[in-house]
Amino acid sequence: MTSHIAVIGGGLMGRGIALALGDGGYRVSVVEPVAGIAAQVEVMAHPRIALRELDDAVSDCELVIEAVSEDVEVKLALWRRIDELAASSTLFATNTSSIDIDELAGALDDPSRLLGLHWFNPAVIVPCVEVVVGARTSEETVVAASALMAAVGKEPIQVRSAPGFVANRLQFALFREALLCLEEGLASPEDIDRIVRTSFGPRLARFGPLLSADLGGLDTYLAILNYLSTHLGARFDPPRILERMVGDGRLGAKSSGGLRELDPAEYAELSAGMADLLAEAYRVEDAASEPRA
Ligand SMILES: NC(=O)c1ccc[n+]([C@@H]2O[C@H](COP(=O)([O-])OP(=O)(O)OC[C@H]3O[C@@H](n4cnc5c(N)ncnc54)[C@H](O)[C@@H]3O)[C@@H](O)[C@H]2O)c1
Repeated sequence: MTSHIAVIGGGLMGRGIALALGDGGYRVSVVEPVAGIAAQVEVMAHPRIALRELDDAVSDCELVIEAVSEDVEVKLALWRRIDELAASSTLFATNTSSIDIDELAGALDDPSRLLGLHWFNPAVIVPCVEVVVGARTSEETVVAASALMAAVGKEPIQVRSAPGFVANRLQFALFREALLCLEEGLASPEDIDRIVRTSFGPRLARFGPLLSADLGGLDTYLAILNYLSTHLGARFDPPRILERMVGDGRLGAKSSGGLRELDPAEYAELSAGMADLLAEAYRVEDAASEPRA
């Protein structure tokens, strides 16, 4: 099998994915029907990346990555066609941001070949690729696709398929609340962004939401959610897992266990070192000033 990957769709993500794979040593065929966008693929002038027609591109590749518009019908029609054209050993991946893999797998004779490889923009820079496992995705498909992502320098992280997967469930919950804060006139758009950059944003980037909560105290987080739920509605209802943990006295770093299930010594070390770990991330001149191109 040649080290050849077909990327279908040469838009924002398709071009970034093609570059990352080309830089990683793969020969990449990009399929893009819109002339103006195809011209932008050519501008990349990468020795291992070329524009091709769909049948040429998918007939001899080890992996097809579909990165066309986020439209279920468009994707289903395309996958039906790819299924007819590709060799039976070819792995199939979709870069969809939100569509359940099981819905797209319905277009294929053998749904075990399909998974999500959810890249992030800019694809050349961002390490994480969510490896989205559908109900019928085979273990072989997951292992092979994860190995390929690691081979091109990415950090493949496995998630079970559901609408939005993990990253966009989290990202869009925050986005929605930011829009509501704006709509309710709580702060200007500039200040909403500035509050995130200079408060929990850097901490979230360093620790993630679950370790942050463990370090902050799960009893306190539960009390906050209860108050918000009373005043802002059911979208803030505390999930049962949090009530159960607090009921069991598992409060995070200040007790004997938390969401991350680290041992007490690890929690103690993280709590003690938190200020030092975050000092760099919170450097005021970086966090407080607007990014400029
Ligand atoms: N934009 C992001 O930040 C981002 C991040 C992660 C994942 N995604 C996902 O990646 C996919 C592509 O998003 P994008 O931002 O690159 O969109 P885009 O609009 O920039 O590009 C989509 C491209 O697909 C092409 N296309 C449409 N139908 C096609 C077909 N049948 N065959 C070949 N090409 C076709 C279009 O001409 C267009 O150039 C979507 O599923 C999106 O949800 C986007």
